[in-house]
Amino acid sequence: MTEQPTAPLTPVLSRTWDSDRSWSLEAYKAKDGYRGLHAALAMSPDEVIALVKDSGLRGRGGAGFPTGMKWGFIPQNDGKPHYLVVNADESEPGTCKDIPLMMAAPHQLVEGVIIAAYAIRASTAFIYVRGEVVHVYRRLLAAVREAYDAGYLGRNVLGSGVDVDIVVHAGAGAYICGEETALLDSLEGYRGQPRLRPPFPAIAGLYSAPTVINNVESISTVPVVVLNGADWFKSMGTEKSAGMTLYSLSGHVERPGQYEAPLGVTLRQLLEMSGGVRAGHELKFWTPGGSSTPLLTAEHLDVPLDYEGVGAAGSMLGTKALQVFDETTCVLRCVLRWTEFYAHESCGKCTPCREGTYWLVQSLRKLEAGEGAEEDLARLLDLCDNILGRSFCALGDGATSPITSSLKYFRDEYVAHFTSGGCPFDPVASTVFA
Ligand code: NAI
Ligand code: SF4
Repeated sequence: MTEQPTAPLTPVLSRTWDSDRSWSLEAYKAKDGYRGLHAALAMSPDEVIALVKDSGLRGRGGAGFPTGMKWGFIPQNDGKPHYLVVNADESEPGTCKDIPLMMAAPHQLVEGVIIAAYAIRASTAFIYVRGEVVHVYRRLLAAVREAYDAGYLGRNVLGSGVDVDIVVHAGAGAYICGEETALLDSLEGYRGQPRLRPPFPAIAGLYSAPTVINNVESISTVPVVVLNGADWFKSMGTEKSAGMTLYSLSGHVERPGQYEAPLGVTLRQLLEMSGGVRAGHELKFWTPGGSSTPLLTAEHLDVPLDYEGVGAAGSMLGTKALQVFDETTCVLRCVLRWTEFYAHESCGKCTPCREGTYWLVQSLRKLEAGEGAEEDLARLLDLCDNILGRSFCALGDGATSPITSSLKYFRDEYVAHFTSGGCPFDPVASTVFA
């Protein structure tokens, strides 16, 4: 049983968001900005890695892999270049935390990058930003420029003898380029498609050199961990899921947005903070971490939102993108919409995903139009069975999650489509809207 988190706390990652011109160096420094870097440079790189390991910080991009352990995989004193790459290609449906983090506090990320690069002995770091978000790209460029001017970047950072350069790179807008090895291919100038792992990037990553790839939120968390220590970080969250994090609430809630809270908070608590499900309606289903994570329902309101708690409930914490849907939502239409996204974004490299997602869409469209039959449900599950675990990367597996989980909880609703000859939620024929 996962323990309950300590109470919601003073914002840490979002502490500067209310400041005037929060994105500026001046505003960031007024709230402890770059003090973590000074602290890190007073330690050896190995000590920084040990501190991050001890803190229990886990990757915030979705997988929850221990950050310090990942850094520890980088071979030391091998005389070869190492790289740090920040995955800022946030694209999972419902996921919208990294963009506000970079817009409101870009220096938090820049400071984290410098500390992480120092720890893994990399002198060049890349921030790979989703191409569509030009405003984020510009903001990062401006922050990086400010950091160079202030002596935090470039040759001999703060007189430490350490060199760190940051390259901000804009992608071209493909969901698959958020997969870490496809991102590396894209950064190298190739078409972004996943590489076979192992070797993991820590051994052979960018230009075949040892490379750490971390999510924006993970790296943005590093400065406060270094500044305040591992015990401070571990005092928040749960035993195996330490610290605070950003939960993104969207959909049918009164006040959607980013909510910073300790890991292990529940959706019930987050709904209390966000004004609840919109007035006059009730929760029907939700995603704990974007659409690749299996759906949960109202019976899961008290599930601790940490890696262990959500896992025990049959889903995954993922990106902590909580998309909330009330009783007016047709789950089949929603799942169809997500599946169309996965089919569109499938990179085409492997057959189960390329062909499978196409046929998932065809089957769902037929069912949604009320033209299906019982055997179509069996075919749908059979298709999922042939994709899950047989795809080259996580995209294929993720595409099956909303389908299998919605069939588990809302099979009756699928059946209602073909027994009533159409969508029961259609406003024209609906009983729901009657
Ligand atoms: P993964 O569990 O395969 O890997 C996680 C990280 O740990 C990677 O950086 C990997 O290189 C490293 N790693 C794992 N085993 C290792 C080993 N033995 N040696 C060295 N390094 C190792 O997860 P993956 O495929 O990288 O990411 C999947 C997650 O991404 C999903 O859970 C999903 O929630 C999330 N996701 C996030 C999106 C976003 O927009 N933020 C978009 C799509 C998916
Ligand atoms: Fe490409 Fe899909 Fe295969 Fe991943 S699972 S390699 S996205 S075709």
